[in-house]
Amino acid sequence: MGMHSRQRRLFLKASLLQASLAAAGMAVSARSSASAAPPLMAPILRPIPSSGELLPVVGLGSWITFNVGNDPAARAVSTEVVRTFFAGGGRLIDSSPMYGSAQDVIGDALTRLRPPGTLFSADKVWIGSGERGPAQVEASRKLWRVPRFDLLQVHNLLAWEDHLRTLFAMKAAKRLRYVGITTSEGRRHGEIVNIMQGQPIDFVQVSYNILDREVEQRILPLARERRIAVIANRPFRQGDLTQALSGKRLPGWAAEIGCTTWAQALLKFIVSEPNITCAIPATANPAHARDNMLAARGPLPDAALRRRMIADVERIA
Ligand SMILES: NC(=O)c1ccc[n+]([C@@H]2O[C@H](COP(=O)([O-])OP(=O)(O)OC[C@H]3O[C@@H](n4cnc5c(N)ncnc54)[C@H](OP(=O)(O)O)[C@@H]3O)[C@@H](O)[C@H]2O)c1
Repeated sequence: MGMHSRQRRLFLKASLLQASLAAAGMAVSARSSASAAPPLMAPILRPIPSSGELLPVVGLGSWITFNVGNDPAARAVSTEVVRTFFAGGGRLIDSSPMYGSAQDVIGDALTRLRPPGTLFSADKVWIGSGERGPAQVEASRKLWRVPRFDLLQVHNLLAWEDHLRTLFAMKAAKRLRYVGITTSEGRRHGEIVNIMQGQPIDFVQVSYNILDREVEQRILPLARERRIAVIANRPFRQGDLTQALSGKRLPGWAAEIGCTTWAQALLKFIVSEPNITCAIPATANPAHARDNMLAARGPLPDAALRRRMIADVERIA
């Protein structure tokens, strides 16, 4: 293909992106609104216990928020969320074949970003048939447009024995770096505990937020003992918490831990639990992506402040 047609294609692509951003009411300059904001200091990092590799304590979820189909304006906004996330020092993005078009939207964003961010890809396998697991993983990989995944998790323990076998084999063949399992909303914690005790998994993903703290009882101590990284999903109870607290005055302690929003305080609560490796808030709003990355830096609450935070949120939310 000659340079001319390639350049024309790139130009058309850029024009389309600019039109989409304009349609979405965003800055049209190549360097967007978020990069015009002051640079952030480096995020707090925590080791993946099985390897020592460091990860920023705030990642990015993608359920619902990135299921935007083919709408170019919405895709441009998703790209802006991913760009803002990387600009804030973020790395781990979590998705699943269960999340509609989210994987493709992430892959699309990753190809549009120049330079691309330092991605840590966390996807899932979610299919009742163990035999069809490898084909699903390969389809997901193509949608993400990555050479291989960093982390693959068995979603909601579906056919977990078969899928774990596949994932451990992929890891042994160096086609995958880490293996994990997920659940949410306190479901099947007994089974999660058994798997954590019996299988050499690197990651477990569970629901943990300021009001849903059941995992503190057994799962977090066990993760520490078994050297398993923990991803906290539903950090805002799927937005119920941020909504309930919106417009409510931030208590005085927020300033002590450098928080200017409730979202930052909710995330700092989660990542101040030392056995949490990272929290993965989802957002469709680039300003919220920046807000969430602000929670990954500066002071964290100690045990006494954590108790006050719980009491205040229980009262206010
Ligand atoms: N079993 C599993 O494997 C499992 C289960 C559940 C979740 N997950 C993963 O965990 C991720 C997070 O959980 P979730 O999506 O259920 O919910 P969540 O992250 O607790 O809440 C998402 C909601 O919070 C709002 N939000 C985000 N940042 C905000 C901010 N700074 N200020 C105000 N509102 C904000 C978003 O609205 P805006 O778009 O307006 O910002 C969105 O509606 C999922 O996306 C998924 O990747 C996995």
